[in-house]
Amino acid sequence: MTTLIRGGTVVNADRAFRADVLIEGDTIAAVGENLPVPAGATVIDAGGLYVMPGGIDTHTHMNLPFMGTVTSDDFFTGTAAGLAGGTTTIMDFVIPAPKQSLIEAYHQWRAWSAKAAGDYTFHVAITWWSEQVHEEMGVLVREHGVNSFKHFMAYKNAIMADDETLVKSFSRSLELGALPTVHAENGELVFQLQQALLKKGITGPQAHPLSRPPAVEAEAANRAIAIANVLNTPVYIVHVSCAESLDAITRARANGQRVYGEALAGHLVIDDSVYQSDDFDFVAGHVMSPPFRGKHHQTALWHGLQSGNLHTTATDHCTFCAEQKAAGKDDFTRIPNGCGGVEERMAVVWDAGVNSGMLTPSEFVKVSSTNAAQIFNMYPRKGLIAAGSDADIVLWDPQGTRTISAATQFAKGGFNVFEGRTVRGIPHTTIAAGKVVFHQGELTAVEGAGRYIERPAFAATTA
Ligand code: URP
Ligand code: ZN
Ligand code: ZN
Ligand code: ZN
Repeated sequence: MTTLIRGGTVVNADRAFRADVLIEGDTIAAVGENLPVPAGATVIDAGGLYVMPGGIDTHTHMNLPFMGTVTSDDFFTGTAAGLAGGTTTIMDFVIPAPKQSLIEAYHQWRAWSAKAAGDYTFHVAITWWSEQVHEEMGVLVREHGVNSFKHFMAYKNAIMADDETLVKSFSRSLELGALPTVHAENGELVFQLQQALLKKGITGPQAHPLSRPPAVEAEAANRAIAIANVLNTPVYIVHVSCAESLDAITRARANGQRVYGEALAGHLVIDDSVYQSDDFDFVAGHVMSPPFRGKHHQTALWHGLQSGNLHTTATDHCTFCAEQKAAGKDDFTRIPNGCGGVEERMAVVWDAGVNSGMLTPSEFVKVSSTNAAQIFNMYPRKGLIAAGSDADIVLWDPQGTRTISAATQFAKGGFNVFEGRTVRGIPHTTIAAGKVVFHQGELTAVEGAGRYIERPAFAATTA
C-alpha cells in the first residue's frame, strides 16, 4: 500500500519544513519537496496541516486490575481512543502482584494487549524483591524488549516498593542497561494521613488531596533521586505534579544527574478546585494520584517543559466508571484511583501550550513524541518523520476546534476530566503503521492491528 501525503508542513523536534511524505507499507519511504506520485498511490492533501510524528503516551493503564476492580478501557478501546487523539503508541505497565513471577505477569499482559489497535510497549513494575525477580528482570531485558522498570513508592499494603526493593532494583537496572522509573509519593505518609482523616470522620472524596499533599510527593522524588545518585543510575519520575518535585529534578540535573520527568496533560491544565464540590461522582471522577494541585503548580510544570527539566507528556489513562468509583462512597481510600486522557492529551497540550506561545510546534513534538522515543529507546523508529521511520503520523489541524465531552469520547468510563473544554488544534487524520485509522472524526481502528514494540537495552554496565 502506497500513500503520498502532499503539501503539508512536516514538524519534527528539530525543525518544521514544507515537504511531502511517501509511505510504503508501514514505513515512511521518503520525505521531500514535490515528490512524484507513484502509480496506484493514494494521495492525501495536507494543505494547511502539520504533519507530525504520532504521539507517544508514556503512561497508560489499559485492562488494569487495580483496587479491587479492572479499568473500563481495555487495550482495544484504550488504544483506539488514543488513535482518535493522534497518539499512535502507548507505553503501558505490566504490574505483577507481590510474589508473582514477572515473566508470568508479562505474558498475562501480552495476552490482554493482543487486541490493541495501536502500537504498545511495556514498562514492568517491580513490586517485590527476591533472587527470582533479579533473574527475571534479566530475562525481560534480554528476551522481551523491556528496558524500563517501574517502582510505586505509594500504595502501601499493595504494590508499594520499599527502599530495599528500590535500591536493589535500581542497581539491577543499571547492570542490565534499563531505566528505573518511579511513582513518587511516600506511601507510609499517605497511609497515615488517610487513617488520621478517617479517624476524624472525614470520609468523602474531598479528603483525597488532603492525604497526598505536595510534600509527600516531594519526599519520594528527592529520595528516588538520592538513591539514583548514590548508585549512579539514571531515573525517570512519572506524573510529576508539583513544584517541589520539579525543584528536586531541576536541582539534580543542574548537579549533573540524569533525571527525567513526565507531566500529565491533566496536571498541566486542571487545578484542585475540582475537589470543592458536594457531587460525589464529580469529585470521585477526579480522584487520581498524585491529585490535581493548586494553580501555581501548573505554572511550574509548564516552566519545566519549557526549560527542558520535564521531558514527556502523558496521561496515566486509567478509567473507572461511576459504579466503580462508588466503591469508595463511605471511605475515600477505597475509590479506585485514576482518570482518562489518552484521547485528549495531544489537543489539550497543543491548545494550552502552543496557542499560548509557551511551546513552538517543534517543542510540542518533542514533549509529545520525540523525547519519549529517545528516552525509552524507540528512536528513530518512533518520534520522527523521516525515511525509515514507522509511518505513525498525525495530520494536525491547528485551526480545528473541538469541545471535549464524555458524551462524544471514544474512551470508556463515561467521565472526562476535560469536560466542556474547547481546544483549538486537533487531529485531522491519524495514520498508524501506514494505515488511516482516524479521519475527520471517523475512527476506523482495527482490533488486533497494534504491534508490541520491543525496546532494546541501553549500554549495560556488565555483560
Ligand atoms: O491514580 C492513578 N494514577 N492511578 C493509576 C496508578 C498510578 O498510580 O499510576
Ligand atoms: Zn502512579
Ligand atoms: Zn499510572
Ligand atoms: Zn461500569
